[in-house]
Amino acid sequence: MIRGCIFDLDGVVVDTAKYHYLAWKRLAKEMGFDFTEQDNERLKGVSRMRSLDILLEIGGMTMGQEEKEVMATKKNDWYREYILKMEPDEILPGVQDFFAELKNEGMKIALGSASKNAVTILEQIGLKDTFDAIVDGTKVEKAKPDPEVFLKGAHEIGLMPEECVVFEDAEAGVEAAKSGKMKCVGVGDPEILGKADIVIPGFQDFHLIDLQQLNTAL
Ligand code: BG6
Ligand code: MG
Repeated sequence: MIRGCIFDLDGVVVDTAKYHYLAWKRLAKEMGFDFTEQDNERLKGVSRMRSLDILLEIGGMTMGQEEKEVMATKKNDWYREYILKMEPDEILPGVQDFFAELKNEGMKIALGSASKNAVTILEQIGLKDTFDAIVDGTKVEKAKPDPEVFLKGAHEIGLMPEECVVFEDAEAGVEAAKSGKMKCVGVGDPEILGKADIVIPGFQDFHLIDLQQLNTAL
């Protein structure tokens, strides 16, 4: 029986991918190469340092650890300029109504995000107190597709992994949920999220009843 939901943040609750993209693109430009929106797909759900490695690979560059730290910090400072301007109206359509439905039914809600900026974003959009547990990039050692972030989320809301549904927009996140033995709703493109149990375009037409159907279908 499903008793809790674990939400990824970037791309599920808010569209911060566009801000990550702008900050990485600026860094790439400074280093002398272009970084496209298609390239950016590869960074979704991936940790900051791993994202930098992929960016460098795209630009055909190598860099020592110290310089990488400087670059990652620079990108993060630019990214934070964007997120510090975020407001509650940037919560994706249908998300708040879905949270309200879950709460009404006594379902637990956790955040399972790779981002070290998750709390800042939740504060900006006014959702910090909505979550019963927040597991973010500051609390995990292994990045998605390792299931650590979701297993910790389930643990913090007092549930077994089998009792949780993960909502994810990234392939690495879907893999993390499935290898953690959780049900997974992909949010976005079915071509990319094919390993999820079901894929939805967003929360606008998604309700608790649909989740219950998912429960009996599995
Ligand atoms: C994930 C994003 O949620 O967080 C990735 O999908 C990002 O694109 C990762 O790299 C780490 O985020 P941050 O905020 O710690 O740099
Ligand atoms: Mg995401």
